[in-house]
Amino acid sequence: MRLTIHGLLLLVAGLVSGTTATTTTRLTRRASANETKDGLHSLMVATGKVYFGTATDTNNFDDEAYQTIATNRKEFGMFTPENSQKWMSTEPFQGNFSFAQADRVAQRARSNRQLLRCHTLTWHSQLPPFVQNTTWNPAALTALLTAHLTTVMRHYAGRCYAWDVVNEALAENGTMRSDPPSVFLSILGPSYIPLSFTIAAAADPSAKLYYNDFNLETIPAKADGAVGIVKQIRAAGARIDGVGFQAHMNVGQTPKREELAGTLRRFAALGVDVAITELDIAHGKVPVAPGGVEEVQQARDYAAVVGACLDVEACVGITVWQFTDRYSWVPSTFPGKGQACMFAEDYRPKLAYDAVVGLLKETAGLAPAGSAESVFGSDGGKATTPSPVNASSTTGSGEVHVVGTGLLE
Ligand SMILES: *[C@@H]1O[C@H](CO)[C@@H](O)[C@H](O)[C@H]1NC(C)=O
Ligand SMILES: *[C@@H]1O[C@H](CO)[C@@H](O)[C@H](O)[C@H]1NC(C)=O
Ligand SMILES: *[C@@H]1O[C@H](CO)[C@@H](O)[C@H](O)[C@H]1NC(C)=O
Ligand SMILES: *[C@@H]1O[C@H](CO)[C@@H](O)[C@H](O)[C@H]1NC(C)=O
Repeated sequence: MRLTIHGLLLLVAGLVSGTTATTTTRLTRRASANETKDGLHSLMVATGKVYFGTATDTNNFDDEAYQTIATNRKEFGMFTPENSQKWMSTEPFQGNFSFAQADRVAQRARSNRQLLRCHTLTWHSQLPPFVQNTTWNPAALTALLTAHLTTVMRHYAGRCYAWDVVNEALAENGTMRSDPPSVFLSILGPSYIPLSFTIAAAADPSAKLYYNDFNLETIPAKADGAVGIVKQIRAAGARIDGVGFQAHMNVGQTPKREELAGTLRRFAALGVDVAITELDIAHGKVPVAPGGVEEVQQARDYAAVVGACLDVEACVGITVWQFTDRYSWVPSTFPGKGQACMFAEDYRPKLAYDAVVGLLKETAGLAPAGSAESVFGSDGGKATTPSPVNASSTTGSGEVHVVGTGLLE
């Protein structure tokens, strides 16, 4: 049963990614799909990058169809725990640490030979009540921060490729964020940022230490603020290795490839790595039809973000914030928006998946130029329905729908 469905999913993945293959060669490809370089991670590595990864967590562990894709190292070479390493999960009561959930994610990554990108330490959100509701003085909060970061990072020492040390410290205009209030900013001032990096560097010398935030891609003033944070950390004599661009984007409002590459290069010029850490690209109004104009635009937008990373040597990798709409955070957080992932709720790979695979193959020299463009269609992606030739992707998607639904029942 498991092997059959696994094989069917691979078959459909092969069909969808095959652009010019005949039926016969497609049938050949389906049998060896897991032995080709067709996966997102394998292709990403073939372009010279470190990983293509996904956020995931233990609430996804019992979904067999999900796991078939998530644990396929050809697709995903890195896991980020979506929630289980956040403060509310790892230290729900002061001094009482709880690693059981995050350990399961780390263990699964290790057994799949996937990297672990660890997330996150100092953040104003998803804190346990005791952090927010205690009246701290600076010394006590410094001691708390030191104990938390040191305990969590030592627990995972040597296992995290990178840690998001400080998350979302900036307001949209590039000043320090105070809305909603940050207990760290209000008690310690902006020095909580270099303090966190100093503690982190001592706790796990092998992890790359990142500052991570959203809208750096689209708001120059916020990117200015992040440049300031890199300089502030360095001026305090602390180590920072990278800046994470969360890249929670909206379909049709994603920066052009060359614009985003330019923003990434601003950070590369400071001597830090950059990474796309939480990529998803949401439709403003859902549902949208499979293979329709909205998915074509989404494919263009995904290709722009991935292309920007490929264009910048300092960009080490890309993480999607879940690969399937089934488990995306978007609809519950932003009602009415959604379908933001590369795979549909039923695990159909969308045009975004085809476009990214095409782009990675081109970049790795495994496919001719135009392989990604072909996914968008000769009309430049403005048609309201897919062309007949491109509609084969849609047909393949329909098969995934049947397979995925069958497995979940
Ligand atoms: C490919 O998948 C099949 C069936 O799941 C499995 O038996 C085989 O070991 C896999 N090959 C590789 C190279 O992973
Ligand atoms: C720590 O938390 C666990 C539940 O996560 C609880 O069972 C235990 O009593 C707590 N220990 C202390 C000392 O608070
Ligand atoms: C903590 O404070 C917040 C408001 O700052 C409040 O909403 C919440 O109920 C408090 N939690 C506890 C456990 O006291
Ligand atoms: C930046 O935005 C915040 C609101 O998020 C506002 O309070 C602050 O005055 C703004 N600062 C500047 C310099 O515009």
